[in-house]
Amino acid sequence: MPIRPVLRMGDPFLLQQTEAVSDFSENFLAPILADMFDTMAHLNGAGLAAPQIGLPWQIVIFGVTDNPRYPDVEPVPTTVLINPRIEIIDDAPIYGWEGCLSVPGMRGKVPRPSKIRYSGLDTKGEPFDRVAEGFHARVVQHEVDHLNGVLYPMRMDDLSEFGFIEELQAAQRLN
Ligand code: NI
Repeated sequence: MPIRPVLRMGDPFLLQQTEAVSDFSENFLAPILADMFDTMAHLNGAGLAAPQIGLPWQIVIFGVTDNPRYPDVEPVPTTVLINPRIEIIDDAPIYGWEGCLSVPGMRGKVPRPSKIRYSGLDTKGEPFDRVAEGFHARVVQHEVDHLNGVLYPMRMDDLSEFGFIEELQAAQRLN
């Protein structure tokens, strides 16, 4: 299946609201998910949202196991999450470094609620929900933001903590 080009920040499509999925047929979902997983794996992403490859649907995927872009984070289960909702359990913000395939080469320190419950539908249209904290909660919030036209720099409150990965690494700031 093809690796798709990832839209980059500045493309107005990334600022749009997305539409709920109502078609759970194999014909509709399987090609979309295959392209999303292939694109995410090719770029070593921790997650990907459908609008990043130009699709207007409420579909996100994520998962982190032995990812060279995120060597020091706890594993996140590989997940397809459709028509998601997030409920904040603990809104005390935690700051953590984020990257995005739509903002290549950069990282920023983003405040996010530390603990959430997320719910949505799986690939069969079956509902599920999970409680998440730490990096898992951060990844889910980042991906679901994409479905609402929000990129992580729009969540930052201190742009002095935004920069290129190489420079941040050289300064040993990515901790
Ligand atoms: Ni992203």
